[in-house]
Amino acid sequence: MRKGLLTIATVGLLATGGLAACGDDSGGNDQAGSGQTPKIGVILPDSKSSARWEGADRKFLQEAFEAAGVEYDIQNAQGDKTQFQTIADQMITSGVTVLMIVNLDSGTGKAVLDKAKSQGVATIDYDRLTLGGSAEYYVSFDNVAVGKLQGEGLVKCLGEKNVKSPAIAYLNGSPTDNNATLFKSGYDSVLKPKFDAKEYTKAADDAVPDWDNAQAATIFEQQLTKTGGKIDGVLAANDGLGNAAISILKKNKLNGRVPVTGQDATPEGLQNILAGDQCMTVYKAVKEEAKAASDLAIGLAKGERKETGQTVKDPEGGRDVPSVLLTPKAIYKENVKDVIADGYVTKDEICTEAYAKFCTEAGIS
Ligand code: BGC
Repeated sequence: MRKGLLTIATVGLLATGGLAACGDDSGGNDQAGSGQTPKIGVILPDSKSSARWEGADRKFLQEAFEAAGVEYDIQNAQGDKTQFQTIADQMITSGVTVLMIVNLDSGTGKAVLDKAKSQGVATIDYDRLTLGGSAEYYVSFDNVAVGKLQGEGLVKCLGEKNVKSPAIAYLNGSPTDNNATLFKSGYDSVLKPKFDAKEYTKAADDAVPDWDNAQAATIFEQQLTKTGGKIDGVLAANDGLGNAAISILKKNKLNGRVPVTGQDATPEGLQNILAGDQCMTVYKAVKEEAKAASDLAIGLAKGERKETGQTVKDPEGGRDVPSVLLTPKAIYKENVKDVIADGYVTKDEICTEAYAKFCTEAGIS
């Protein structure tokens, strides 16, 4: 336990709100029961809404579990809610002590969490809060701050392009993802005052079901048609949605002229930034998120209940959920190199032949 504490301190969580054990005699968690060999089950949501789930989360969770020497099983529901529940059932039957989920919506997420709880399996909401749910912990980033960075990024890029009275289109995340609501409240806090002051106009505001990138392209094409091509900036909630908008802008020879935001610092998003087609992305150090979740999960499996020093109010269930919320970072052309230096993506992934010139320009050597 002491070792676990030190490990947590080294990932810098103390700086982001603090995380400390209640003490060895905290009584532990009745559900997981102490003394069990930890076996942690993780259900990822899909592999299409963002490259992060298979490209970063799987890898960093695996690394964290391996380093801690615990058994684990990481599976992906591939966007299928029935499959999500089947995987959860199988994991519970196979004897996981802790289940970590990234829900596909709060309804099915809640059903899975409640079932696990009734079977004595402790649970963690990983990245997305399950509204009305029953998870012991919620581990994520400050998602309102993510949205603020996106709003500020769009303002900065429009300013640099000297666009007067810009017309903005929103491509929001999935309406079933609580994070999408939080991102929107973040970028609204920056952009709404500009709409109210008639400095900017809002040309379109659409949510993309299930963060589906293909649907995002169709939606954006409709936005562009509806406005007669008059869109000067796109607030896209992640890199996948941003890339969908860029593909349509390219078709209309508008790419590079209309700033587009993003999130996740995916290889594709970073390349779009380097090429000048995307204004910015938001980097979330998934390695820290995975490590924090893994430390809490291992604690739960051992019957320990660590204090996170922070809670988040579940607006539906009214519960204060013990939480770890990490800090996101805005990435522009100038600091794409920071994402590489952090080991999140490699230079080889980004600086392929077509992007080599842009990499040199951005000081990536
Ligand atoms: C995550 C984002 C991701 C999106 C789509 C959100 O809940 O926080 O990082 O881009 O889901 O998968």
